[in-house]
Amino acid sequence: MANRDAEVHRAEQAPTGRNASERGGSTGEPLLELRDLKKHFPLTQGVLFKKTVGHVRAVDGVTLTLGRGETLGLVGESGCGKSTVSKLLVALERPTSGELLYKGRDVTTMNRRELKAYRREVQIIFQDPYASLNPRMTVGDIVAEGWSVHPDIAPRKGRLQRTQELMERVGLNPDYVNRYPHQFSGGQRQRIGIARALALQPEVIVCDEPVSALDVSVQAQVVNLLEDLQNDFGLSYLFIAHDLSVVRHISDRVAVMYLGSIVEEGTDADVYGRPSHPYTQALLSSVPLHEPRLRGQKDRILLQGDVPSPADPPSGCRFRTRCWKAQDICATEPPALIDRGQGHPSACHFAEARTVVPTE
Ligand SMILES: Nc1ncnc2c1ncn2[C@@H]1O[C@H](COP(=O)(O)OP(=O)(O)OP(=O)(O)O)[C@@H](O)[C@H]1O
Ligand code: SF4
Ligand SMILES: [Mg+2]
Repeated sequence: MANRDAEVHRAEQAPTGRNASERGGSTGEPLLELRDLKKHFPLTQGVLFKKTVGHVRAVDGVTLTLGRGETLGLVGESGCGKSTVSKLLVALERPTSGELLYKGRDVTTMNRRELKAYRREVQIIFQDPYASLNPRMTVGDIVAEGWSVHPDIAPRKGRLQRTQELMERVGLNPDYVNRYPHQFSGGQRQRIGIARALALQPEVIVCDEPVSALDVSVQAQVVNLLEDLQNDFGLSYLFIAHDLSVVRHISDRVAVMYLGSIVEEGTDADVYGRPSHPYTQALLSSVPLHEPRLRGQKDRILLQGDVPSPADPPSGCRFRTRCWKAQDICATEPPALIDRGQGHPSACHFAEARTVVPTE
């Protein structure tokens, strides 16, 4: 990168040379704090006179903290609200209620100048790299696009060189700077998206299912690249996936989401070794095991029924319509996300650690 000073400064801040889990997590300093964050989308009827007939509770009281240098995995089935959380984090959506703090400052009350700086520091990469890249722009223009809003980051003169350095850093041939997105493979397109995010020297990157659309072998390459970049630049990641196996390798902590809220949160050892929420246990039981001798030892849990509509979630515990442990209290009292003796928080009245997959 041309701006070597900034790069060196970032690299010095970063605990280099080791991956996220080896570092043992964040430095403890919270960068992003979500406090009872909610996003309800109005459900309307009528063509001329739109009438609100209900709300989709896409995100319904999410409390999470992302520490500096940390990777927080966020996992849950399709439609549980993961992308809505990511859009709230990058200020593409405004929360219905709750707080979103960045370095202690409430993002929802930031003025235009502060919001502009925030949007630079908190970047996003998307699941579908093709849809998120403008097909009529060259890679060079895509990577450099953010500099027109934030010209202070890259002086106009050295931009081409800077773009090519970024391309090289993410594993793309810098000679392809004038090519278009369709001339690249899926994995390469995701690298373009990563270069575009890096160009703005962010503190945080929200990764919304960045590898879900890629082949398994390419997934590992992109995850490795993200880990390397984290080590080099001291980045913090919120890493979203619908499969627990994907986030395992990269996350320091994992939060499991079901129908708009977090049901369990903990370290790798907590969530994979001692899951205590029935939903986490069911999700884990569907993760494929690569070690053939361990496969027979997996606890098989088949979930009944579909995910209820977020426009009309079940009373009490939202998981109760699919839970084999549900009792009367589950229909009347929403279980708080607290530690009930398992050493990490779980939103279940009857939280109980259960080994679902053998520890490899
Ligand atoms: N702009 C919107 N207007 C109305 N409803 C929305 C809007 N955006 C999302 N939703 C609804 O909110 C819920 C959560 O959607 P979201 O995209 O956040 O889920 P997700 O966990 O990212 O799913 P996936 O794994 O499929 O990406 C869904 O029911 C979705 O239909
Ligand atoms: S609170 Fe009840 S319904 Fe919800 S997960 Fe626990 S046992 Fe199941
Ligand atoms: Mg999504």
